[in-house]
Amino acid sequence: MPMETKKKRIGIYPGSFDPLTNGHLDIIIRASRLFDSLIVGVLRNDAKKTLFSMEERVALIRKCTEDIPNVSVEMFEGLLVDFVHEKKADAIVRGLRAVSDYEYELQMAMLNKHMSPDVETIFLMTDINNSYLSSSVVKDVAMHGGNIRGLVPETVIDDIYRKVKAK
Ligand code: PNS
Repeated sequence: MPMETKKKRIGIYPGSFDPLTNGHLDIIIRASRLFDSLIVGVLRNDAKKTLFSMEERVALIRKCTEDIPNVSVEMFEGLLVDFVHEKKADAIVRGLRAVSDYEYELQMAMLNKHMSPDVETIFLMTDINNSYLSSSVVKDVAMHGGNIRGLVPETVIDDIYRKVKAK
């Protein structure tokens, strides 16, 4: 009987990550256990003003995920479903914090499904300890000189302060 080779499961966790928070990292760690490989897809969107450049956002995520062998970080532009096809991925992963996230996430998942019926979106519930976290609150606290320890991975705290100081 011919040996069947099992297709490796690939997940894509897309986002802006401006910057990565502990909430994002928690989703990356948990999603990395569900797939053979997980690609963190960082959106290049020149129309959207971000604090961190594309390269900086990718570098911060790489720094925080270098110990997770099946996680890679890549930038993408254009439609997410096209990136999913290009990477031959099986599913999009998104984190859900509160009911308030649900409407936007549902719209996005349905739109992606409409454009590409073969693309699945799976949601992971954000850890309760990170439920109030977002990139926006991290930037706001840092810009006002507050303490971002506990909100973002330790290894990128100094990078974030340096960046907001330079702005
Ligand atoms: O971290 P974010 O900003 O909530 O992530 C949103 C993201 C990047 C997943 C979404 O904006 C996206 O997929 N953009 C790519 C363009 C696209 O495919 N748009 C149609 C679905 S919204």
